[in-house]
Amino acid sequence: MRTVDLILRKRGADELSVEEIQFLVNGYTTGEIPDYQMAAFLMATYFGGMTDREISALTESMMQSGEVISLTEIPGVKVDKHSTGGVGDKTSLICAPIAAAAGVVVPMISGRGLGHTGGTLDKLESIPGFRTDLTVEQFRAQLAELGLCFIGQNDEVSPADNRIYALRDVTGTVESVPLIASSIMSKKMAEGIDALVLDVKVGNGAFMKTQVEARRLAQAMVGIGRRMDKKVQALITDMNQPLGYAVGNALEVMEVSQTLQKAGPADLTRLSLELAARMIFLGKITPTLDEARKLAEDKLMDGSAYKKFRQVVQAQGGNPQALDRFDLLPNATGMREVLSPRAGFVSAIKAEDIGRASQMMGAGRMVKEDVIDHAVGVILEVKVGEKVEAGSVLCRLYYTGEEHLDEAADLVEDAFRVSNARPEERELILEVVG
Ligand code: URA
Repeated sequence: MRTVDLILRKRGADELSVEEIQFLVNGYTTGEIPDYQMAAFLMATYFGGMTDREISALTESMMQSGEVISLTEIPGVKVDKHSTGGVGDKTSLICAPIAAAAGVVVPMISGRGLGHTGGTLDKLESIPGFRTDLTVEQFRAQLAELGLCFIGQNDEVSPADNRIYALRDVTGTVESVPLIASSIMSKKMAEGIDALVLDVKVGNGAFMKTQVEARRLAQAMVGIGRRMDKKVQALITDMNQPLGYAVGNALEVMEVSQTLQKAGPADLTRLSLELAARMIFLGKITPTLDEARKLAEDKLMDGSAYKKFRQVVQAQGGNPQALDRFDLLPNATGMREVLSPRAGFVSAIKAEDIGRASQMMGAGRMVKEDVIDHAVGVILEVKVGEKVEAGSVLCRLYYTGEEHLDEAADLVEDAFRVSNARPEERELILEVVG
């Protein structure tokens, strides 16, 4: 088998066999297939697409590229949550501790920033000392003790996704149903879960721009779960503006801490509670979804979710004091305000451009080797629907270097639309699949 022939076949939108897909995944994981050939294959897939059979084969090969963890010795139903990627999307750090505080065992394998979207691992690593590179044994031990552990794909678990994800990030091959579905489902199926809640983002800050595309992605992932005998439920949720106000790693951790202490933004709190409720329900902690919603709210309100998060931060080497004392988190050295050019109502915020500006300032990677600057990002002062005056602050850019600051500021200025009429309110949760 020759890699170049498989690239050519995929370029022509041919269906590849299970063996051919295994050959590509194994060859790339072991280093026999170089980056440039894998990048070409990913681009061919981006344009040529994949059949359901190919998506399943890709997921299975990626999952089998490393250890498939068994958690059967840990009592309880294991449920995880994953998002397809958004801007300011920090719900994992909120819904996971809520669900764990309610008694669900939450093994969470997360990703790093991808394209203009942030990654859970990068956010967690902005907490001084926090380690996500635990061994499988450490992962199991923490789950048994605390019911929640955050790790990343690595050389042991989902190594194929680890490598392909980083390559997609810098080769313009992120926004593809087969590549997103296999990336997410391969690592989720490798972590020993019984059920999974997915947050499929749709809108100007998501990889899927229309609800039809988002539904296709949701159905693909629910289908993979079904074929692997796991219960998977997907919410399709709006990403036409950043979630909450904070975008950027340490800035988002601050907002997570506020939300876990009942002082978070309404949209972020609402979505995190709904995701947690679905995890609790799939985790069979309550007989009905309504009871799960009530329990999720109780665990947020009585402080036990925040306590759980602090315990997890401590257990993974992080300094939990940084969750209350934000001066212990990485802090930017400069701040620039973006002002409204006119009075009116904020009628749109292009979330992707806010994410790109943040990435450009150092919150994400432009090439694989880039080191993240955890301090930088954007804090919105207003959200869609709010009234502003000419000259009022729309958002603040937090930076540590000025190299890309002007470019980022231009992008952000352009991201806001201010109009005479108040825009119609959008639903946050649009649809449930599965
Ligand atoms: N999250 C992932 O883990 N992979 C993707 O491709 C997109 C979001």
